[in-house]
Amino acid sequence: MSSTTSAVSANPALYAQEFKGKKALITGGSRGIGRAIALELASNGVDCVINYLRNEEAAAEVKAELEDKGVKVHLVQGNVGDGDEIKKMVQETSDFFDGELDIFVHNAALGAFKPVLDLKPNQWDMSFNINVKALYLAAKKLVPMMEGRNSKILSISSLGSISYIPDYGAIGISKSAMENLIRYLAVELAPKKIRVNAVSGGPIDTDALKMFPKYDEMVADCLRRTPAGRLGQPEDIARVIAFLCSEQSKWIVGQTLIADGGMSLF
Ligand SMILES: NC(=O)c1ccc[n+]([C@@H]2O[C@H](COP(=O)([O-])OP(=O)(O)OC[C@H]3O[C@@H](n4cnc5c(N)ncnc54)[C@H](OP(=O)(O)O)[C@@H]3O)[C@@H](O)[C@H]2O)c1
Repeated sequence: MSSTTSAVSANPALYAQEFKGKKALITGGSRGIGRAIALELASNGVDCVINYLRNEEAAAEVKAELEDKGVKVHLVQGNVGDGDEIKKMVQETSDFFDGELDIFVHNAALGAFKPVLDLKPNQWDMSFNINVKALYLAAKKLVPMMEGRNSKILSISSLGSISYIPDYGAIGISKSAMENLIRYLAVELAPKKIRVNAVSGGPIDTDALKMFPKYDEMVADCLRRTPAGRLGQPEDIARVIAFLCSEQSKWIVGQTLIADGGMSLF
């Protein structure tokens, strides 16, 4: 077992009784952390709409994996950085779930890796569109399907929202705004019986992490600074999402929970 990928053991379906038959939409649910979230929810009996951007093969694979768990699955291709494509995603979700939704996880993210002042304005806009505006636009359209159902809105943030990560400004700064949007939505949607939170991770072993310009250096630094002694795995975040979807966490409102093996302590 390598020091970066020590296994995260299989998870029992802790919330099957509570979650069975619930309906979830996950943006970027075809790979990495989004896929792990979809698998975690499906293991507990949640039907899933999976949004993805362009990798048809990965989307088809996750659909088959989820269906193997006995849940209903619908794939919706679309760029969440584009308002019209969000409209289409919401319409397809509504059609698939008869106008009802219990869980919305905004997980998709993209961004250019550069020092802040080297970013082109369109690269800055792309990060903000995908990380912040997509959450705002989707929530606006999804709330009528979610209100009064004790439902949950969740998003995925990263440590770059609260600290400096080289070349990560476009994403990190937009994640800070996203965490603040989570706080505002949490207050404004609580009367509609929608609970809103986020999970923030340290480095997680996914394809996106491999796109970092100094990947090897970054992983070595992460291992040195993480008391838990390994790199995060997608399941480490998925389990926190499942907890936040459950009634076990009902007193947690408008928070961004950090799940990073202790890395941010240093
Ligand atoms: N990996 C980390 O170290 C880490 C740490 C903390 C937080 N996070 C956050 O966790 C989330 C997932 O990251 P990840 O590492 O799992 O990424 P990933 O492995 O690159 O997967 C990204 C997923 O999002 C989809 N996607 C990307 N851009 C999209 C768009 N504009 N519209 C719709 N779907 C889009 C991709 O679809 P296609 O496959 O079709 O392109 C894929 O399903 C992100 O919010 C990221 O910021 C990651």
